[in-house]
Amino acid sequence: MFKATSVRQFSSSAANAYKVTVLGAAGGIGQPLSLLMKLNHKVTQLSLYDLRLGAGVATDISHIPTNSTVTGYGPEDDGLAKALKDADVVLIPAGVPRKPGMTRDDLFNTNASIVRDLAKAAAENCPKAAICVISNPVNSTVPIVAEVLKSKGVYNPKKLFGVTTLDVLRASRFLSQVAGTDPNKEIVTVVGGHSGITIVPLISQTNHKSLPKETYDALVHRIQFGGDEVVQAKNGAGSATLSMAQAGARFASSVLNGLAGEKDIIEPTFVDSPLFKSEGVEFFSSRVTLGVDGVKEIHGLGQLTNAEEEMITVAKETLVKNIAKGVDFVKANP
Ligand code: NAD
Ligand code: LMR
Repeated sequence: MFKATSVRQFSSSAANAYKVTVLGAAGGIGQPLSLLMKLNHKVTQLSLYDLRLGAGVATDISHIPTNSTVTGYGPEDDGLAKALKDADVVLIPAGVPRKPGMTRDDLFNTNASIVRDLAKAAAENCPKAAICVISNPVNSTVPIVAEVLKSKGVYNPKKLFGVTTLDVLRASRFLSQVAGTDPNKEIVTVVGGHSGITIVPLISQTNHKSLPKETYDALVHRIQFGGDEVVQAKNGAGSATLSMAQAGARFASSVLNGLAGEKDIIEPTFVDSPLFKSEGVEFFSSRVTLGVDGVKEIHGLGQLTNAEEEMITVAKETLVKNIAKGVDFVKANP
């Protein structure tokens, strides 16, 4: 275990003093995400765990003069338990990324057991933490975490999140490119899940309701399959890491702002949701207000066009299967 305190300490109020743990902290996402969490002034303890290089990344990041102690751990000496002990927020980017030709679901066989085991450790060491799952396939890894927490008697649906923020960032960026506008001003709600056709951008709720059909179709396809662009461009060396770190840091920051009692903190995220439960869809991403207990309010989808309704119908069919796959995995492999 490595522990280092930045040279200069800043004062922090109790409401702004949180322990954040990153699992998979030395990976392509983990490193820049940990860096960005070091820059977040609400984080006072940053705990970095990985199978390799956890201590090295922690030492490196600890030299940045912000208000947090950085501690790095590996699997030896009960490192995972120590990394998670009493964490307020756990970010999970541990697991393998895609290569060209693979779907996110093709990662299931490797990542399901990684996420299951990390969830067990979180249940034991920080049962009240907000857990933010980045590892793919998110549509299945989030239900895996839920099942593990249920089996340990500590499941709080308000504290489990699938991170879909990258879809939101892409939607802003890609829409601004076709509309010729400032991406910072393009807020796009993206709902459903986090893979291909389960990603449903609600363009009709932006200022660009009347895009030509060809432009609209191409935009929706690009948002749904934006991950493939990066996988292909990296040509076997992984998937989105830097944009994902930015997305993960934005989502974590919003969770922390909610925990701290700030008002009107809203992010689309994949959560245990009442929206389509009656149709067997236990988890669904929509706009969620974040508060002191995690999920404060799950918002409905608002008015949709026929095209968006159709996309939601298709998304739900896939989501039911993806979610069941995660649940069945934990039942068969507790
Ligand atoms: P990576 O291979 O660069 O890093 C993964 C890290 O996880 C490695 O450092 C590895 O040592 C670590 N790891 C593996 N098993 C572990 C375990 N049991 N405990 C702790 N650490 C473990 O991969 P990456 O590019 O950082 O991607 C990580 C995951 O994030 C992938 O599953 C990828 O598909 C997913 N991802 C999700 C989104 C999203 O929008 N939710 C976006 C991009 C990538
Ligand atoms: C993404 O959307 O970039 C991630 O889910 C990684 C991937 O496999 O595409």
